[in-house]
Amino acid sequence: MPSKLAISYHRVTKSFGSLRAVDDVSLDIAEGEFLAVVGGSGSGKTTLLRLANRLIEADSGTITVEGENVRDVDPVALRRRIGYVFQAGGLFPHLSVADNIGITPTLLGAPAADIATRVDELLELVQLDRDAHRDRLPEALSGGQ
Ligand SMILES: Nc1ncnc2c1ncn2[C@@H]1O[C@H](COP(=O)(O)OP(=O)(O)OP(=O)(O)O)[C@@H](O)[C@H]1O
Ligand SMILES: [Mg+2]
Repeated sequence: MPSKLAISYHRVTKSFGSLRAVDDVSLDIAEGEFLAVVGGSGSGKTTLLRLANRLIEADSGTITVEGENVRDVDPVALRRRIGYVFQAGGLFPHLSVADNIGITPTLLGAPAADIATRVDELLELVQLDRDAHRDRLPEALSGGQ
């Protein structure tokens, strides 16, 4: 059964000055597919990801997310429908664990009760005890937590 494309790169290139960080990359990722991008330090993995939600803009080529050219989509709306776990600095230090997890649906205006239910489901998914962790600040977590 043919599956829908979630993210597609077609001949994408991105340079920083004279350094070509992403060089003519074409890649299709199907909905539901689990894909690992593997490569040496500095080989362009993070740059490739940042192009998909327009944290940076490609020099050439086309990137589509769920069939839409990312250049034609409002970047803020685009980012709110792409989950992205940063290598560092991914948590708001002044917000509790629960508020960090719920930040995107909060910004999208979801009902508080729905957000609370989903936060609990996700804490369970990553095996963090709900009562012990929900209201903590990120500074009170270990790296892995
Ligand atoms: N904003 C920038 N300005 C200049 N050079 C950059 C910028 N961002 C990345 N680079 C350079 O582009 C290349 C690719 O960087 P990138 O962060 O994509 O690598 P990576 O594969 O994610 O590496 P790592 O495994 O270390 O995280 C590196 O040489 C890096 O120094
Ligand atoms: Mg990286």
